[in-house]
Amino acid sequence: MADQRDLTARVREGYDRIAAEYDEHRSTDDTDVPLVERFCDGLGPNADVLDAGCGAGMPVTELLAEGHTVTGLDLSREQLSLATGRLPGQSFVEGEMTRLPFDDDSFDGLTSFYAVIHVPRERHEDVFAEFHRVCRPGATLLCTVGDADWTGHNEDWMGMGEAMYWDIPGLDRARELLENAGFSVERVDYVMDDVADDPARKPFVWARA
Ligand SMILES: C[S@@+](CC[C@H](N)C(=O)[O-])C[C@H]1O[C@@H](n2cnc3c(N)ncnc32)[C@H](O)[C@@H]1O
Repeated sequence: MADQRDLTARVREGYDRIAAEYDEHRSTDDTDVPLVERFCDGLGPNADVLDAGCGAGMPVTELLAEGHTVTGLDLSREQLSLATGRLPGQSFVEGEMTRLPFDDDSFDGLTSFYAVIHVPRERHEDVFAEFHRVCRPGATLLCTVGDADWTGHNEDWMGMGEAMYWDIPGLDRARELLENAGFSVERVDYVMDDVADDPARKPFVWARA
């Protein structure tokens, strides 16, 4: 396995190259949309929300932005360029989930869909510590994690001609890391991810800062 910086650079370069094509697979009809709607319903009006690993902003950032002030953060400039074009009134920031460029207690809610699973597992502790640091006390976190412990890559992900990389320590370890970071894990919902090559149930963790 390549070293962490190398891996993160490969993930960024991969998303830079597939941004437009990946975007074609995402829509407001996707199976994870009810989760975003439930997340929005649980927030007060015009809450400050961070979407970490926002990609091109469809559908998560876009739905959040209907009633809230959203900041989207992503590694990939191409993803951010699509997101900015789609949601010109929202704020998008190029950055790394392991060192968020935001003050402590900045957000009432934080979503992170299908993104932490791309971060080398040695850095997941840092990611969740950063998520907790930027959340206000009582903020809601909704984050995709992985069910089973798995590290791997796909040389031609979704037939887009680009390699992609994942590092997933599994649900139990994700819970442990979230609790260690200061979150209380409240529930886990499973959603059938029909966007990826291998449709599978993906766990989404709800946690309270
Ligand atoms: C599968 S896409 C998901 C995009 C969007 N959240 C969605 O639901 O469609 C994963 C995104 O996470 C971003 N990402 C991966 N590792 C990251 C990191 N360490 N920091 C910030 N963004 C990251 C990628 O650039 C990519 O845009």
